[in-house]
Amino acid sequence: MSAQSPRILLFTGKGGVGKTTVAAATATLAARRGLKTLVVSTDTAHSLADALGVPGSAEPAEAAPGLYLQQVDTQRALERHWGDLQEYARGVLAELGLDEVTSEELTVLPGAEEVIALLELREQVRTGRWDVVVVDCAPTAETLRLLALPEALDWHVSRLLPAGRKLMRALAPVIRHVAKFSVPDDSVVNAGERLHAGLMGVRELLTGDNSSVRLVLTPEAVVVAEARRTFTSLSLYGYRVDGVVANRVFPEGGSDEWRSGWVRAQSRHLASVEESFAPLPVHKVPYLPAEPVGPEALAALAAELYGDEDPFAPPAGEPPLTIRSEGEIHELTLALPLADKSEVDLARKGDELIVTAGSYRRVLALPAALARRSIRDAALRDGHLRVRFEAGGA
Ligand SMILES: Nc1ncnc2c1ncn2[C@@H]1O[C@H](COP(=O)(O)OP(=O)(O)OP(=O)(O)O)[C@@H](O)[C@H]1O
Ligand SMILES: [Mg+2]
Repeated sequence: MSAQSPRILLFTGKGGVGKTTVAAATATLAARRGLKTLVVSTDTAHSLADALGVPGSAEPAEAAPGLYLQQVDTQRALERHWGDLQEYARGVLAELGLDEVTSEELTVLPGAEEVIALLELREQVRTGRWDVVVVDCAPTAETLRLLALPEALDWHVSRLLPAGRKLMRALAPVIRHVAKFSVPDDSVVNAGERLHAGLMGVRELLTGDNSSVRLVLTPEAVVVAEARRTFTSLSLYGYRVDGVVANRVFPEGGSDEWRSGWVRAQSRHLASVEESFAPLPVHKVPYLPAEPVGPEALAALAAELYGDEDPFAPPAGEPPLTIRSEGEIHELTLALPLADKSEVDLARKGDELIVTAGSYRRVLALPAALARRSIRDAALRDGHLRVRFEAGGA
């Protein structure tokens, strides 16, 4: 990665646990340490601006010295970048006799707004303006998983599109006659390819060496269970998780039964979080007496959160997916922390390896060196799936 590439920190977790607050606090700290910082949200509720106590803006605007907030205007971004695709979709629907679909309605596609926000984020990273980019993600990493889709499609798109384009051109008059709707012209196909390339780029950025995800949770059974599943699935999709934030921890003390009950239950959950997520650091944030809103409260929260640590250092440890192909050794290792053996499944389909963990599935295109070898064996041990390939390839 180039020296220009900023440190990207993503925050996700179950709804309402404090993602926006922790993202805003981390960004505030980065700016106070002299790093040029951009904080963006992939959700359209404008909570980031509320947490920072400033008005939102579609272009990065300075919210505090060195700290810039961008609230992506998905509508505008959609029109600017994907107008061609929209026009086409609108045209087809109109030709089919459906009501004119407004662009507003088109953005309601699940995940579309978050994805557009991430495409905008990539544009920002490319300006080279930022040292740190903090992203307040949608709950439970839904969008991050969505980004695995173009990876699965990439193989097909790169092989089929050139052929498909020729075919479309040849068949256009026939389709128009039979189906009575327009065949996408080149500008639409181009926009589709651009979208695909853009999504691949975003994914590359967010799974790159300078990016990591931090899981925000509260010490409660249901929340922790979900955070564990998110940890497994993020790793499956190649995202590096480098920390856990346990928010809203009840401070000890006092004598009433209500409070000591919560303190006891939370400390039990905290112990299990420490154990499950080890060796990841678990940063604790107390349940504050008031909502942490505005730069001072956020800076205080960040100080509590990170202590003397450097939360902006490059992520440590191996990336989730590693491939070794040298001499007699040809193997692929994929971290699947907290995955249960009974839920993990592996299948081979030509050049692709299909890994399933619970309800999540990743289609991995094997690099050429492994694609021509057969699998010798595979095992899930210590949170890692290790697939060994035969030494003698075809
Ligand atoms: N440690 C804390 N102590 C007290 N209040 C907190 C703490 N952390 C967050 N809050 C408050 O809890 C509420 C929810 O926090 P926040 O908006 O950051 O959660 P979120 O995970 O981003 O929610 P959503 O899933 O809706 O985006 C906010 O009012 C916030 O000010
Ligand atoms: Mg939020």
